[in-house]
Amino acid sequence: MERWLTWKEATRRALYGAEGFYRGPEGPAGHFRTSVHASPLFARALADLAAAAGLTAVVDVGAGRGELLIALRRFAPHLELSGVDVADRPEALPPSIAWGTEIPASDGALLVANEWLDNVPADVAQVDEHGVPCMVEVETRTGRERLTDAIRGEDARWLDRWWPLLGAEPGTRAEIGASRDAAWARAIERLGRGVAVAIDYGHASDARPPYGSLAGYRQGRQVAPVPDGTCDVTCHVATDAVAAAGTAAGAGATIVTTQRQALKALGVDGRRPPYELARTDPTGYLAGLRDAGEAGELLALSGLGAFHWLVQGVGMDVPALLPRGPRSPG
Ligand SMILES: C[S@@+](CC[C@H](N)C(=O)[O-])C[C@H]1O[C@@H](n2cnc3c(N)ncnc32)[C@H](O)[C@@H]1O
Repeated sequence: MERWLTWKEATRRALYGAEGFYRGPEGPAGHFRTSVHASPLFARALADLAAAAGLTAVVDVGAGRGELLIALRRFAPHLELSGVDVADRPEALPPSIAWGTEIPASDGALLVANEWLDNVPADVAQVDEHGVPCMVEVETRTGRERLTDAIRGEDARWLDRWWPLLGAEPGTRAEIGASRDAAWARAIERLGRGVAVAIDYGHASDARPPYGSLAGYRQGRQVAPVPDGTCDVTCHVATDAVAAAGTAAGAGATIVTTQRQALKALGVDGRRPPYELARTDPTGYLAGLRDAGEAGELLALSGLGAFHWLVQGVGMDVPALLPRGPRSPG
């Protein structure tokens, strides 16, 4: 039987329903590689960020199978750690790490959301042949699409403000980020005082993708986004809209930068160790080579290094060591 749903509802069922993609035993790491999986240098940088901000707790939102928290425990045994995910508590998680499905209220925490917001289901709009932005529905078994009603209400207001389609060519698309904004606002509201960091592939109003960015991933490969529960369904995050929602929810100081700039400021260094070290300290040299390779993956502008870091302070400033000013690739 055919089943047509808007993309937000279809994605919600496909990813988080009883048999949803994110409830599978293999977890996100079975299908794609995030910065968390790429290198422990990522966890170490976040531990350094918490230390620079004088924070004593980390809340990991969209924590997968707790990989980041387990790595953080090694680098910063004193930190109070909590994971939040729709998935059950991972068996491998040490008892000292808290786990739940709701973001806990916290004071003095670094809230981290690595590749969370791109998995918050979003609706898709497409301009029809008369120039009217319409809601896209998807057939959940095949991924076929059809256009339905004109976009109205809150979604229309979000598009007008953040991703205007007025006068756009038929076929132009936009992903409606209101659900991401609301998710981030709720996260900010849970933070009494602290720093919140959303790390994701993103875009701002000066560079939206004209045909959208909806994509599927399964077992390490990009596939057609079919919301049938067998693949991830994701689209990039409108970082500027999310930042404004965070500000409206109580955040103050705000920085948007690239992962490359943020991690370099936090001491992640992709340079190879000096060759001389191979003679004096061969083990250290090999470890340095490994770190340089991993850092290279985290910093690469063709991949993880281009991710946006949205950093917002709640009741405090963001650490001065992070780069200020406009995003730049450098
Ligand atoms: C792409 S994975 C990222 C996992 C991990 N942060 C990493 O970087 O490897 C996104 C995760 O967000 C979780 N997630 C999505 N929406 C959520 C929600 N509303 N509450 C809690 N977890 C959520 C998913 O279950 C999934 O584990």
